[in-house]
Amino acid sequence: MLEARPTESKTPGRPAQKRQPAVLVTGAGGEMGHGLIRALAESSEQLSIVGLDLRPATDEIADCCSETLAGDVRDQSLLDGLARRYHFTQVYHLAALLSTSAEQAPIQAFEVNLGGTMNLLRLAIETRDQTGVTPQVLFPSTIAVYGVPTLEAKLAAGSVAEHECLEPRTMYGCNKLSAEQLGRYFTLHHRQLQPGEPGSVDFRAIRFPGIISADTIPTGGTTDYGPQMLHAAAQDKPYQCFVRPDSRLPFMTMPEAIEAMLSLAAAERSTLTRTAYNVRSFAPTAAELAETIGARFPALEVGFEPHPGRQMIVDGWPADVDDRAAAKDWGWSARHTLETALDEYLIPGLRRHYGRT
Ligand SMILES: NC(=O)c1ccc[n+]([C@@H]2O[C@H](COP(=O)([O-])OP(=O)(O)OC[C@H]3O[C@@H](n4cnc5c(N)ncnc54)[C@H](O)[C@@H]3O)[C@@H](O)[C@H]2O)c1
Repeated sequence: MLEARPTESKTPGRPAQKRQPAVLVTGAGGEMGHGLIRALAESSEQLSIVGLDLRPATDEIADCCSETLAGDVRDQSLLDGLARRYHFTQVYHLAALLSTSAEQAPIQAFEVNLGGTMNLLRLAIETRDQTGVTPQVLFPSTIAVYGVPTLEAKLAAGSVAEHECLEPRTMYGCNKLSAEQLGRYFTLHHRQLQPGEPGSVDFRAIRFPGIISADTIPTGGTTDYGPQMLHAAAQDKPYQCFVRPDSRLPFMTMPEAIEAMLSLAAAERSTLTRTAYNVRSFAPTAAELAETIGARFPALEVGFEPHPGRQMIVDGWPADVDDRAAAKDWGWSARHTLETALDEYLIPGLRRHYGRT
């Protein structure tokens, strides 16, 4: 059972005030938010979960949370109000505009993805100042932080480690990499000019690949062709794939992504050598994806109509990522290959989802 683990501060803060300890999840209404909140609610009876999203909470989310709010992570006064009532021991900051949406509205993406992250970091710093306990900030980053200039460079780079190819080519990637850097700064260097140990938060990021869920069809992301193809197959619909057949990217399933977040949260800080880690489970080309899904749904018809802009984004991301640091530091291990992901999780889930059991 995984429980919220506040990190004890080594520098004394003011005595804890009588505010309710809680876990804050932003982006609570999204694909990952749903699964994460379910898992958090199941993981501990005592955990108070506060869910925040632009969208009003579904009944399923509201049932798992002690409070849900329809609000904006850019709204500082809303966050200040929350901080007066709760002592957040953990913040899962999921709210973001995804890659394609961010490319369509880059200034708004900057405000939400970076400004919103700064607001949540500020909330964590103030919590630490007021309680003496350093909150964890868990952050879902992305392979979009990487950037390769050409398709040839992508093929040559192969599987990239965390410090390689950090020249993002999308607004989303720039925002996420900048947010990671802010988190690293506030964890390791904030207040370095003052006596005592520097650092005010315990920021932990995972650079996720494309994530495939049996429950939801995503929009606004560039890896959406994977889940969209699968959901089309499950509904006996044809699918026009927006990237070339040879396009290769890493993926994983949503339960693996949530498990990774909870495992990183549960790790002892002293075992962590980085503030951002790669994870991945399988890395098929779009053609391999179509073939493997087609073997299980023989009626599936996949056409390829590459969208020039989205193709350029995919060509600028690495074909795979090196996840050995996560394995070594906090025991990450992929549960699935593409085949087992389909047979053991995705297809049973899709059959239930579309009522085809
Ligand atoms: N799904 C993936 O493949 C993937 C891959 C890598 C990283 N991530 C990251 O994981 C996180 C969750 O992704 P997801 O797949 O659940 O996306 P999603 O789009 O389903 O969920 C994002 C949620 O954030 C909310 N939101 C957007 N702007 C907001 C704002 N200003 N204030 C409050 N809420 C706001 C949205 O309403 C939405 O419910 C994101 O940070 C994303 O960048 C996702």
